Amino acid sequence: MNLPDSPKTPDWLQKIQYIIDPLGYMDNAYQHYGDIFNAPIIGNYQRLLLVSNPEGLQQLFTRDSKEFYTPSNGLLQLVVGDNSIFCLESDRHKRERKLLMPPFHGDRMRAYGQTICHLTEGIFSQLTPGTTFSARNVVQSISIEVILKVVFAIHQGERFQKLKQLMTELMDSFASPLVSSLLFFPFLRKDLGAWSPWGYFHRLQQQIDQLLYAEIRERRSQYDPSGKDIFTLLMSARDENGEEMSDKELHDELITLLVAGHETTATAISWALYWVHKQPEIREKLLSELDSLGDSPEPMSIFKLPYLTAVANETLRIYPVALLTVPREVKEPVELMGYQLELGTRVYGCIYLTHQREDLYPNPKEFKPERFLERQYTPYEFFPFGGGARRCIGEALAMYEMKLVLATILANYQMELVDNRDVKPQRRGVTVAPGGGVNMVLKGRRQNQRVGDTSSSSV
Ligand code: HEM
Repeated sequence: MNLPDSPKTPDWLQKIQYIIDPLGYMDNAYQHYGDIFNAPIIGNYQRLLLVSNPEGLQQLFTRDSKEFYTPSNGLLQLVVGDNSIFCLESDRHKRERKLLMPPFHGDRMRAYGQTICHLTEGIFSQLTPGTTFSARNVVQSISIEVILKVVFAIHQGERFQKLKQLMTELMDSFASPLVSSLLFFPFLRKDLGAWSPWGYFHRLQQQIDQLLYAEIRERRSQYDPSGKDIFTLLMSARDENGEEMSDKELHDELITLLVAGHETTATAISWALYWVHKQPEIREKLLSELDSLGDSPEPMSIFKLPYLTAVANETLRIYPVALLTVPREVKEPVELMGYQLELGTRVYGCIYLTHQREDLYPNPKEFKPERFLERQYTPYEFFPFGGGARRCIGEALAMYEMKLVLATILANYQMELVDNRDVKPQRRGVTVAPGGGVNMVLKGRRQNQRVGDTSSSSV
């Protein structure tokens, strides 16, 4: 077996750089080794390859269940539990996808549109003009409400508020490199009291679990099979033996959707707000495109706007929220990009490095939505949501939410970045988000409020 090269610096140094500056680590390795390299430090595997070549990625995604399989995801398992779709393999994984996919597509998605706009307007209208705020915090509040209210149909109340607060604390804890290190250094996972990183993380998890189990008990006792939300759908599901999901299984799937679904989308929207205000000409173009729809446009018409779509895509290109796909493992000896791979070799699609290829995206460090209007990219050239058998099931919801939240904010509010400094990407657990959270000042309401008016709604 021949292995692609790996960076030559000592492993411990590589690991620290990968935790603190994952983009720098990848850029550096790409410069030296190109489209495919071995990076064992990422997952403590001797053969762990990162691929950023479209042909290689096509082979990886289209032969997902032939030569490769997707092993259970150890890192995420810590957060989401072993019954999560992230950790399931083979047939059980396929069945779970079948169950979870439909509510994220088609008519069901369409029904979420107005609520997303109303929620956005409701949360933004609480900000006082002149105040400075972290765009990331405000948008995260919107995206968690979307999951709790729209996807799970949890009613506003004490449990809802507590769950929202604790989930936000849990995800925010990953902004600290120390807590993020827990994911990479198992020996740090020791409960040395509430002030130690693992102790803190563990206590938050326990409180969230209690709330979710209380919600599960209540929903089971008031079970209404006509509910269209995912919670009801999961409660109604039966396996091949006619068995329903246990409380633990239900819990793991709910926490998965909470973790995967709100943090990622909030990061993407806050990056979009940053770019649009960093380059005011982009904001102007977006506003004139929105204006062309007239007053109170339909969410679906907003979703289809070409320039808005290009801005959302470019946002996910330049700093993808997930830098890597989940790993695929070789289950039959296979050749990939001239290398003969042994059983057990792990291969990751490197989303970030592919999105930075000069041959696909000239001047890749520049934010330029027009590139998505001038050229169509294949799913192996642009893949912020991964691909193949593990492709993100929340993609349609995330894109819908991203565009509607952005359109509602831009149409209704005048805002500015607090200063002109460049915002740099920073690790947040297994994702990467704007460092410092994008600080903005609310200047005031735009003349005519046009999207997501809450006066006609009960939300
Ligand atoms: C901008 C927002 C989002 C981004 C960038 C994103 C990105 C990703 C990526 C890269 C993967 C791994 C795909 C692969 O390895 O091939 C993934 C998987 C997944 N995502 Fe997302 N995601 C987003 C939003 C969401 C939302 C809103 C939900 C649900 C509410 C969600 C649920 C999931 C789930 C359940 C999986 C695992 C799929 C499986 O293992 O079969 N994601 N996502």
